[in-house]
Amino acid sequence: MSKDLYERAVAISQRAYAPYSNYLVGAAVQTKDGRIFEGVNVENAAYPLGVCAEKSALVKAVSEGYKPGDIAAIGITASPCGGCRQWLYEFGIEEITFLNSQGELATYSAAELLPDTWDLPA
Ligand code: THU
Repeated sequence: MSKDLYERAVAISQRAYAPYSNYLVGAAVQTKDGRIFEGVNVENAAYPLGVCAEKSALVKAVSEGYKPGDIAAIGITASPCGGCRQWLYEFGIEEITFLNSQGELATYSAAELLPDTWDLPA
């Protein structure tokens, strides 16, 4: 499953809008009931307003009715940035797959990627 999601992320990354960095990122999230939502990074001339691929995929899932706890896994074409790690933690995602710094396709939990966080709503 992890490799499939990563491959979906690679394919969708071609739709990224990243004319400033030229760094095309894709993400594919899988819900626990089996749906897949894809996202890409969307940049802006006002640089800080750009959105990461992980966030755009998660926003799609939420707008279709999914919430933290409903997402099983995500594949990403980049190592997630610090802000995205916080988002992944918010959603309690147990399987986060990307190419790590050793060049291996690896899967981590959100808690592994962002240790010692504060409590989330019950
Ligand atoms: N980017 C993502 O989409 N996800 C990440 O986790 C890392 C960074 C995007 C943001 C920006 O559009 C580009 O990659 C360069 O940082």
